[in-house]
Amino acid sequence: MADTRNNLSRTRLIIVSNRLPVVLKKEKDGRWNTVPGSGGLVTALAPVLRDRGGLWIGWPGTFEAFDKKSEEVLEGATRDSGFTLKPVALTSEELEKYYFGFANEIIWPLFHDLLSQCKFDPTYWSCYQEVNRKFARVIKEHLASDDYIWIHDYHLMNVAQELRGLGVKDNMGFFLHIPFPSLDIFLKLPWRFQILRSLLNYNLIGFQTPRDRRNFMQCARTLIKDLSVQGKGQVVTLRFGARNVRVGAFPISIDFREFVSLASTQGVTNGAWYIHEQLPNVQIILGVDRLDYTKGILERLEAFRNALLRYPELQEKVVFVQVVVPSRCEIPKYHELKIEIERLVSEINGQFTRSGWVPIHYLFRSLDRSELVAYYRTAEVAMVTPLKDGMNLIAKEYCASSLEEDCILILSEFAGTAAQLQKGALLVNPHDKEGVADAIYKALKMSTGERRQRMKKLRASVKRHDIYWWVDSFLDAAIAKRLYNFPIMEEYLPQIEMA
Ligand code: G6P
Repeated sequence: MADTRNNLSRTRLIIVSNRLPVVLKKEKDGRWNTVPGSGGLVTALAPVLRDRGGLWIGWPGTFEAFDKKSEEVLEGATRDSGFTLKPVALTSEELEKYYFGFANEIIWPLFHDLLSQCKFDPTYWSCYQEVNRKFARVIKEHLASDDYIWIHDYHLMNVAQELRGLGVKDNMGFFLHIPFPSLDIFLKLPWRFQILRSLLNYNLIGFQTPRDRRNFMQCARTLIKDLSVQGKGQVVTLRFGARNVRVGAFPISIDFREFVSLASTQGVTNGAWYIHEQLPNVQIILGVDRLDYTKGILERLEAFRNALLRYPELQEKVVFVQVVVPSRCEIPKYHELKIEIERLVSEINGQFTRSGWVPIHYLFRSLDRSELVAYYRTAEVAMVTPLKDGMNLIAKEYCASSLEEDCILILSEFAGTAAQLQKGALLVNPHDKEGVADAIYKALKMSTGERRQRMKKLRASVKRHDIYWWVDSFLDAAIAKRLYNFPIMEEYLPQIEMA
């Protein structure tokens, strides 16, 4: 184990993702400024680099040409955290075709099983390849010996292949933050062979759950001739020709302790009290999502309406707070979704509001961390009900922040989190409106004793398998080639009981 630790500590980490954790902004007076970025990937990776140090390469969220000043501001943004940011410049046309186009109008919907939302435009694919090449060039420029290159997410699946083309032989890892689809769906992708071949240039490919790894393995086994699989368990080795590629499932997590300490501050405690003070004599159900059609926001609102109709005793006794964080609004489907959410919220509120009680409180903005944690702390129920999700860290953040442990999580069977949290959460099929409404009723009526029992289990699991455990287990499989403290994680599959 000592050797393993030494190997890991000698290694400098180069994290590469489409976005940097901050957005660079040019103010009207020409000065550069940074604001924090949003999304699960950024939330998860920031503590990793704060802990280990290293380099983070990505797009800083602007098309303005960089200058010396902007690079200084970018470096200053994380200097105190002990890691450095290096920008990749993208033009607006590149962003249009590579990010909005290939990443978000092809891979994102396809990998979330939403084929009908895909726009298979071939110009998106050529731009995706060019931008991945651009990322590879920036990485090569900053690469030193003993670095470990760790590429993240669906925007950058081709980067290893491009780096190999530039003569880089280093050990490289890839982590997919979103689901990997089943063979039937993957086959629809016009560039399925190119993408699969590209991925196999990494030495280790990590997925969120056994479900995603199973899907990837089925694609690899079916589409690659003379492939053999060695090993059993969470990480296996694919062999073809002279090559070996490791493939594993590593459920991403959060900095549990950081959430606990933020939730314990006086500011958050007061904030939590204030939210409930403003909504007296009701239980609060909370939903927090990026604006995205995969998050099941419309389905959840419909299920809430169904609960109010089928269980009228809930009326005036519950408030549903739905926070929607603006995201990808330039894509027509996202804009349409925003309009549809707003229409549905006002329809349901119009249907049920009584003097002194509005059933749905809708916030369309990002909350700062303390405000968000105050909502987590105060809500009796959280609903995390995506139609499909790689992991979903909101579920884990809610559990970590629930210091009193007297609340309950309603969780989609199709969130990656379900594999890990199946024992304490109330699992639902988000497409089953009445089933979700029944779960809402059950959650609101559940005794404090049962809520505590369930929440204790959830918190223990999130605490044990936190973000540091995730990074150690990935890097141990990647660099030390051994498995570190690996839990057995079962895929969640619903089962019927036959008489
Ligand atoms: C998901 C993806 C991330 C992405 C985030 C925010 O969590 O897995 O890669 O950064 O959404 O989306 P955006 O398109 O704004 O980066």
